[in-house]
Amino acid sequence: MAEPVAKKQKAEEVKTDTVAILDCGAQYGKVIDRRVRELNVNTEILPLNTPNEKLRQYAGIIISGGPQCLSADDAPEYDKNLFSVGVPILGICYGMQLMNHVLGGTVEEGKAREDGQFVMTVDPESKLLQGLGTETEVLLTHRDSCVNLAPGFKMIGKVQASGNIAAISDESRGLYGVQFHPEVDLTVHGVKVFHNFLFQICNLTAKFTLDTRRAQAIEEIQKTVGESNVLVLVSGGVDSSVCAVLLKAALPQEKIYALHVDQGFMRLNESARVHEALTAAGIHLKTINASQTFYNARTIIDGKETEKLCETIRPEVKRKIIGDTFIRVTEEAVKEFGLQFDQVLLAQGTLRPDLIESASKIASSVANVIKTHHNDTQLVRDLRDAGRIIEPLRDYHKDECRSLGTQLGLPSELVWRQPFPGPGLAIRIICIEEPFVTPEDPAIMEVLKSKFSTEEVHSTLLPCRTVGVQGDARSYSSLCALSTKSAPDWPTMLAMAKEIPKAVKAINRVVYCFGEQLPQGALTTVTPTHLTPDVISQLQHADDIVNQILYEANLIKALSQVPVILFPVDFGQTGARGICIRTFITHDFMTGVPALPGKHIPLDVLEKMVARVVAEVPGIARVCYDLTCKPPATTEWE
Ligand code: XMP
Repeated sequence: MAEPVAKKQKAEEVKTDTVAILDCGAQYGKVIDRRVRELNVNTEILPLNTPNEKLRQYAGIIISGGPQCLSADDAPEYDKNLFSVGVPILGICYGMQLMNHVLGGTVEEGKAREDGQFVMTVDPESKLLQGLGTETEVLLTHRDSCVNLAPGFKMIGKVQASGNIAAISDESRGLYGVQFHPEVDLTVHGVKVFHNFLFQICNLTAKFTLDTRRAQAIEEIQKTVGESNVLVLVSGGVDSSVCAVLLKAALPQEKIYALHVDQGFMRLNESARVHEALTAAGIHLKTINASQTFYNARTIIDGKETEKLCETIRPEVKRKIIGDTFIRVTEEAVKEFGLQFDQVLLAQGTLRPDLIESASKIASSVANVIKTHHNDTQLVRDLRDAGRIIEPLRDYHKDECRSLGTQLGLPSELVWRQPFPGPGLAIRIICIEEPFVTPEDPAIMEVLKSKFSTEEVHSTLLPCRTVGVQGDARSYSSLCALSTKSAPDWPTMLAMAKEIPKAVKAINRVVYCFGEQLPQGALTTVTPTHLTPDVISQLQHADDIVNQILYEANLIKALSQVPVILFPVDFGQTGARGICIRTFITHDFMTGVPALPGKHIPLDVLEKMVARVVAEVPGIARVCYDLTCKPPATTEWE
């Protein structure tokens, strides 16, 4: 008698509209997930050792790449009957090697690695690769290769240059493997490979659209919230803003308590814009201008009271004061809302990538600490401990979150905002009282002169420090400027910026200084700088000019982040300061490169920024361009 019940439960678990992605630890795993979802098919990411009993409920399985060799002691475990699970399987890189190995083929270490784009010869008759033409470019990153194919398999793709096996199939069993990475842009027809697998091989339909997902998210919010109220802290960033408008779509206004704190370090008119945009989207947003409280705030470090924020020059003290003050200000505001612990839920804009791979691996630890600060009021902590948190965007990638925001009526300036640090412009103002000079400077200058200077290019040590990452540790070291007699050759400038920190450990960041060539050697004078309103508005003005031009040139999406920094070097003009434009191109925010002028950012765009900042912002002596990769320099200067 129990039989039918068990059967019924099973039936409910069937996930015929979903693909399981088995994660072998590939750096591109998250990207596979995104590509499949872009084709409107639902995914779940599961460990490689998920039992077959569970896997057979999905419409198909994709096995990701992984960093290991098959023979490694710590190679991930799997169900030994994985490949007879009975649903179509696509193995990518490691996934393909595993499939071939388990089913009786051989995989061997190659003589050399194949890394980069290669031409693959394609069997156009194959189900998986149909529509790719007879040859196509693919991205390879491997050393091991399938050498003898398992019984039943045939080769459907071959690396033209090396003859290595690039793709295999056993269509009768629905098993497919690709040595290349269809999930990345460098595989030109990668999307088509997924398309074939999902719709021709797994017979899925594209039902997982933003519309259906939005409807589901709204239903889930309504069910979870019930009679409670919801608190949402709005930073002005994309995720929390989208979270707020999604709540609005699900709940009556009086249940939503949205709070935005202006700590005084937002961009020019930014808090007003956030307030306006969210109000227009129907959110009752309470915005508190707490800038005076922040400027004058202190905190306790190691049992001692610090100086005020507007008096400190120490980067870590700035961060700590701002984080702690944020907690105090939020706590008071929430008290004014009159919310009772047991009647409130906290909504957070956590996204899917934050949950895939442990967040700590992706996000910088600095960012993590600060984010914790911002969400760490006593109330928030209690709510989290009690599980009273809702994360309606936990199933969304950033681009999906942006589309949802657009659908829900947020303006594009807000939806396309680049990531912005919690402490805002406070960590983009390098504060100083005295020039930073050290006894090692003469030795450093000697290396700069002998190795990195010509008549055309001067390398000059500047009297201030910025934060970087060298080795595994944070560094707080000197800044070097390159300057030229005539227009710079940018690839050479970038190459020098890579070499200088290697040759001189005490330098972690290199910038190009526009304008007249600087003297070879060192500059030694600065303008004393603190977080005071005049200094903040100087940076807000420069930042606003740079951002206006970025928007006009349509570069906001292509450049992941463009911090604009105010630094205290006076370049020989008493009372003046410098501005630096720091472009940063990254997918993971762990490592990245500056935009190459003339390639990633048009020269005339950069020159326009420089000219306008110098002409329009009072007290700016020079504009520089940050040439440093991360590592050795962080994205932000502090
Ligand atoms: P760095 O400068 O370490 O930054 O390369 C990595 C990423 O984190 C952002 N960042 C922050 N985000 N609060 C934040 O919410 C912070 O205090 C903070 N500091 C850095 C940075 O902009 C980049 O995206």
